Amino acid sequence: MEDIEYILLKYAKIIDHYILERLTGTPEELYNAALHLIRAGGKRLRPTLTLLVARLLGGVEAESRATPLAAAVEISHNFTLIHDDIMDRDDYRRGVPTVHRLWGESWAILAGDLLHAYAYKFVVNSVEYGLGKSESHEAMKILTTAGIKVSRGQAYDLLFEKKWDIRVIDYLDMVHHKTGAMLEASAKLGAVAARASSDIVELMGQYGGLLGVAFQIRDDYLGVFGDPGKTGKPIYSDLRRGKKTLLVLYTLSKASQEDREFIIKTLSPDTAKSEEDIARIAQLIKEYKADIEAMNLARVYVERAKEIVSELRGVVDENSRNILLRLADYVVSREK
Ligand code: IPE
Ligand code: IPE
Ligand code: MG
Ligand code: MG
Repeated sequence: MEDIEYILLKYAKIIDHYILERLTGTPEELYNAALHLIRAGGKRLRPTLTLLVARLLGGVEAESRATPLAAAVEISHNFTLIHDDIMDRDDYRRGVPTVHRLWGESWAILAGDLLHAYAYKFVVNSVEYGLGKSESHEAMKILTTAGIKVSRGQAYDLLFEKKWDIRVIDYLDMVHHKTGAMLEASAKLGAVAARASSDIVELMGQYGGLLGVAFQIRDDYLGVFGDPGKTGKPIYSDLRRGKKTLLVLYTLSKASQEDREFIIKTLSPDTAKSEEDIARIAQLIKEYKADIEAMNLARVYVERAKEIVSELRGVVDENSRNILLRLADYVVSREK
C-alpha cells in the first residue's frame, strides 16, 4: 500500500513540471518572487486532490486532462499564501522566509497578482489538454467561486482578530470559506475533467469542503503544538495575531473567569505580548483539553467526508477511492 506522503510526492512532480515550464517571464524579480514558495516546497495537497478525483471518476485519461486544472489550483493557493503572510505578518513558510520578507510588500502583492492571473491562464490552457470549451468554462466558474469565498473567509479571519463574541459556528463558517473553498474547488475540478455529472461534481465538492475544515483545524493545532522543523512555519503566530482559532474558542468556553480574563487581555490587539504569556495560553489550551476537543471535531468532518467517497457511485478506479479515504485521515494526522 502506497503511503500518502509518497503519493503526494509523486503528484507533486507532475504539477511542478507543468508549472515551472510555463511560469517564466520578465522582469526576473517578479518571477523569482512568484516562484519562491513553489520552489521551497509544500505538500501539493490541492492539485493531488484534483488529479485523484479525476482518476477516480475517469481513469488515467481524465487524470491527464486535469493536469492544467491541478496546476491552476496550486498556483491560486500560492497566491493566497503570499497575501496571507502579509496579512498575518508571518516571516516563515515552507521553511523559508516569506515573499514579503525577502522582496518587500509591494513585490509580494505583485507576485500574488501574477500567480492569480496565471491560474486562469492555466484553466484556459486546459482546452489544449483535451477539455471541452464548456468544461473549461465550468472550471473557470469553480475557480472564480473559490476565489470569492476565500476572500470572504479571509475577511472574517481578520475581523475576528478584534472580536470576542465569536461562536464555534462562526469559526466553522469562516474556515469553510478561507480553506474549505479551495479544497472544494480542487475536488470539483477533478470531477469536471472526468466529465462527471453535476451531481457527482457537487458531491466531490462537499468531500473537499469537509476535508478543508478538518484541514484548517489541524493547521490551527500544528500552529500551537506542531514542530516548526516539520511544518516550516513558526509556532504561536495565530496567538500573537489574536486569531480566533477553535483552540482558543474552546478554551474560552471552558476557562475559569480568571483564565478567561487573562486570555482576552493577552490576545487583545493593543496588548504587548510576552513570550511567557503566549506560552501560558498554549498551556491553558492543553489544561482545558481544547486541543483534544478540536481534533475530535476535525475527525467528525473527516468521517463525513469519507462517507461521501465510500458511498459514491460511478467510480472507475477503486484504488483512487481507497487513496481518497486515506487522504482524509492524513489531513488530521499530518505533522506538516
Ligand atoms: C496552508 O496550506 C494554508 C492553509 C489553508 C492552512 P498547506 O498546509 O496546504 O500549505 P502547503 O501548500 O503544504 O505549504
Ligand atoms: C490560510 O489560513 C488560508 C489561506 C491562505 C487562504 P492561515 O493563515 O490560517 O494559514 P497559515 O497557517 O498561515 O498557513
Ligand atoms: Mg496565515
Ligand atoms: Mg491567515
